[in-house]
Amino acid sequence: MIRDLPSTSTAAVSKELITLRNDVGAMAMGRVLTLLVPVGEEDADAAIRAANDATRQHPARILVLVSANSRGKGRLDAQIRVGGDAGASEIVVLRLYGELSRQQAAVVTPLLLPDSPIVAWWPGESPKDVAASPVGQMAHRRITDADANGSAATQLRRRAQTYLAGDTDLAWTRITRWRALLASSLEAAPFEPVLAATVTGAADDPGADLLAGWLAHALRTRVTRVRSAAGVGLVNVRLDRESGPIDLVRSEDGTDTAVLARAGTMPRLVALRTPSLAEALAEELRRLDADEIYATALQDGMPQVRRGGTRTEAVRAGKIAAGPAEVSTGGSPAVRADRLARAQEPSDETSQDGIRERVRQELDDAEHADTKVLPDQDAVAEAVVDALIEVVVDAVRSRGIAHVALTGGSMGTAVMTALAARARRGDLERSLWRDVHLWWGDERYLPDNDPERNDTQADEAGLGEVPVLAKHVHRIPSGAGRDRIGEATARYATELATWAEPPREQLSQPAAKRAHPPVPRFDVLLLGVGPDGHVASLFPGHAALRLVTPSTTAVTDSPKPPPERVTLTLPAINAGRAVWLVVSGADKADAVARSLAAREDHEVPASCVRGTSATVWWLDEAAASRLD
Ligand code: 6PG
Repeated sequence: MIRDLPSTSTAAVSKELITLRNDVGAMAMGRVLTLLVPVGEEDADAAIRAANDATRQHPARILVLVSANSRGKGRLDAQIRVGGDAGASEIVVLRLYGELSRQQAAVVTPLLLPDSPIVAWWPGESPKDVAASPVGQMAHRRITDADANGSAATQLRRRAQTYLAGDTDLAWTRITRWRALLASSLEAAPFEPVLAATVTGAADDPGADLLAGWLAHALRTRVTRVRSAAGVGLVNVRLDRESGPIDLVRSEDGTDTAVLARAGTMPRLVALRTPSLAEALAEELRRLDADEIYATALQDGMPQVRRGGTRTEAVRAGKIAAGPAEVSTGGSPAVRADRLARAQEPSDETSQDGIRERVRQELDDAEHADTKVLPDQDAVAEAVVDALIEVVVDAVRSRGIAHVALTGGSMGTAVMTALAARARRGDLERSLWRDVHLWWGDERYLPDNDPERNDTQADEAGLGEVPVLAKHVHRIPSGAGRDRIGEATARYATELATWAEPPREQLSQPAAKRAHPPVPRFDVLLLGVGPDGHVASLFPGHAALRLVTPSTTAVTDSPKPPPERVTLTLPAINAGRAVWLVVSGADKADAVARSLAAREDHEVPASCVRGTSATVWWLDEAAASRLD
């Protein structure tokens, strides 16, 4: 539905939006986000398309402020788009003429949704001081794009001079994958310091500058920025180490791949695709907290970066790789042997295309879940406890601490029963389990010891026999009375934040794993699944599913009794290293099948959870009976 309102006023636009909400029902309240898009006429159409695509996952009100002709009489032309190709969002295009073109903030204020976070995105030209600009002052986050804006060096210099928490830039977003690959390349032995780094990219590529700044800040090492031909973007990165260099070199054959070569190992072909404008914008809309790593790369790291010569000079001097290392196609596969060797057919080992396809498949698999099917509920519980003990032992041995989030429901009880039995048999090493912290993914908001509480049911299943310290069993605060559920929710969030990872990013934590509320990075987070596909106390279509910043929230209208609950939010759950869905019973078969077939579907909450390193469905045969 498109409604044009020529020569109109914001009051009229506001009224029309309300009419549309009644007529078309297109304006479901509780919109998550208001996206302000100040843009010139020439960039307007592309910006509207990108904003619309980027908000498919996050329904929003998109207010596009087009500065048309600033001369002549003041006038406002408006166009409202709802439903149809506007997806779940509503788009209001406001063309401002004459004096109005300098009054963007005043024009848009009456159209802001109450208590909805506001994000501003400048697709093209952005103000010199974004946070101080009239539109910038209204926004919780401010997204610029140094790639779309003339001189990258000038843009980044301005961003650094005027940075305010909440600022970010899509040139930074576009290098997320580079940063994740470089971070993971340092996650494997030999663990040794990076002695120097060299970033090669087009002189006008802000992403290469930001990547160099990030490395300089995060690695505290000498970083040199080498210039390659204009327009080729970011080309390669070398990390120099004692045992030899790590080279991440983008393939220049038009495929979205790169080769990651580390001394002493086979070069690996990896997917490396620059996200589209809509994908980059969508990634930024997923978070509302300040991006402090961007700030440190911009303000602290970039000034430390040394100017190198040209790519040709650097290759001649042996300072960088001339091109992607050869990915061997004979003998054992060059790409990750373990998973691909199992999956690949011997016949397609030979061609580069076959390897590329498998890399894509491998990454796609990594995005998806593993499923493990056991005969019945007890077998599921035993298998989960076997794996849980392994993860806990590894976590305490490598990090000195382990965080496990328990679930309620029948599987929660079955797992605790099996774990307590191991404790009685002496299988749980006391000196190790004293460093294990237990949490809950959700809790029924009932008085202490109420038989319906998840922690009471865990106690009854034998929690007391597990050799964890009582102070490391973090029970969700109880109470009674709706007014205090908010207090209990806040107290649990505070407790979670107390044990959250230090805010400063360690390079070994790839970027994609860090954007989450302040919670411990659970080594295992267990989730039961309801017949409707709910997990924790996140129910189909519930507004709680759309929360971006808090780690916990209260639910007072749970369709599964009791109605009042405190629950982790999706971002808190998805901060977990391993998310395990533990499901038994034929009544869950449909939910399991729908969850595994969907992705990020708020009608099936179990399709929205995934660990940063692993997502595993532990099923009994009955629950798996609808899987093909
Ligand atoms: C709760 C649980 C809930 C549960 C599922 C599955 O508090 O009710 O945390 O998310 O895990 O509803 O419960 P069943 O396994 O008992 O079906």
